Amino acid sequence: MDEVLVNHQRRIFNNWDIVAKGWYIACPSRDLLKAKAKSVEICGQRIVVYRGEDGKVRALDAYCPHMGTDLGIGKVDGNMIRCFFHHWAFDEQGQCLDIPCQTAIPKQAQTQSYATAEKYDFIWVYPEANAPNPVAEFDELKGKQIVTIHDKPLERSCHHHICMMNGIDAQHLRTVHNIDINMDLFLNHNQLGNIIDFTLKGELPKTTFKERIGRKILGANYEYSMRYADGCIGLLTIMKNVRILPSLHMIFAYTPVVEGKTRIQPIYVAEKRKGIFGWLLTRLFLLLTKMAYYMLRDEDGQIYDNIRFHPNLLLSIDAPISKYMNYANQLEPSKWSKKVRSEK
Ligand code: FES
Ligand SMILES: [Fe+2]
Repeated sequence: MDEVLVNHQRRIFNNWDIVAKGWYIACPSRDLLKAKAKSVEICGQRIVVYRGEDGKVRALDAYCPHMGTDLGIGKVDGNMIRCFFHHWAFDEQGQCLDIPCQTAIPKQAQTQSYATAEKYDFIWVYPEANAPNPVAEFDELKGKQIVTIHDKPLERSCHHHICMMNGIDAQHLRTVHNIDINMDLFLNHNQLGNIIDFTLKGELPKTTFKERIGRKILGANYEYSMRYADGCIGLLTIMKNVRILPSLHMIFAYTPVVEGKTRIQPIYVAEKRKGIFGWLLTRLFLLLTKMAYYMLRDEDGQIYDNIRFHPNLLLSIDAPISKYMNYANQLEPSKWSKKVRSEK
């Protein structure tokens, strides 16, 4: 039998107790105005994000180290956040710098701070004070001005590692999406091991009338790639190297909500073009990207709301799945993981 055996110990992959280090979405950038604070749940953690007077976003554990008040109801004071209850003020490192009723500040008056980033019109938080890498990008768009639009987030009833693999499940392209393409797989790992790139390319089929028209317009070959970052962001590029159309880019940012529930934030990205005509083209490509996503999403949804994943019988065509599992298993657990938290 044409079967691939995976030497797979369940460690990080599909494990609800572990939150891997990576960038997770806190909220859209526009939801946090200057000098405002709000608390959000990220991967089961209550985190306060606030924008200082200088416009920069900071993130801390939300519960005040004094008596546990949610700092999200506090006030931004310069570039610090001041607790609503007894007005202790914390800086972006989580250090308490002011206690109004006394001058001495105890050493323990500090809270965990987190690295933040603003990208693709979202605020992202990393479960460490410093992040070793920025929020992932498309190579093709690096250094270029981009435009993004985003959709409402959706929920799926499975671990994000499972629904993330959709883009590299070669068999289902044929069976679920009716895309009859013979795919060759190319695989690339970055040095840190937090990014893995899958490229699938092949020849467009020419059996049906629709397929022949497609070949006439787009050319004979088809290519798409999926970049996974930190096991929680998927960057999908479709329509690579075809005629007429540029590559289309979409991002899926995944966040575990509670055990059994994953939130997926779709983001569509296009290069910013100059002038009115450029603006129209950019909008058109963003719309096409969105349409492609809706088509794929609707066909896949019921699989991921009902799956109980087990990789017991993988075929050689499923090799990307086992590669993804191995990749996820070598990611690093963050302090938001249940095990790490209970060891404290
Ligand atoms: S609970 Fe925050 S200052 Fe007292
Ligand atoms: Fe799919």
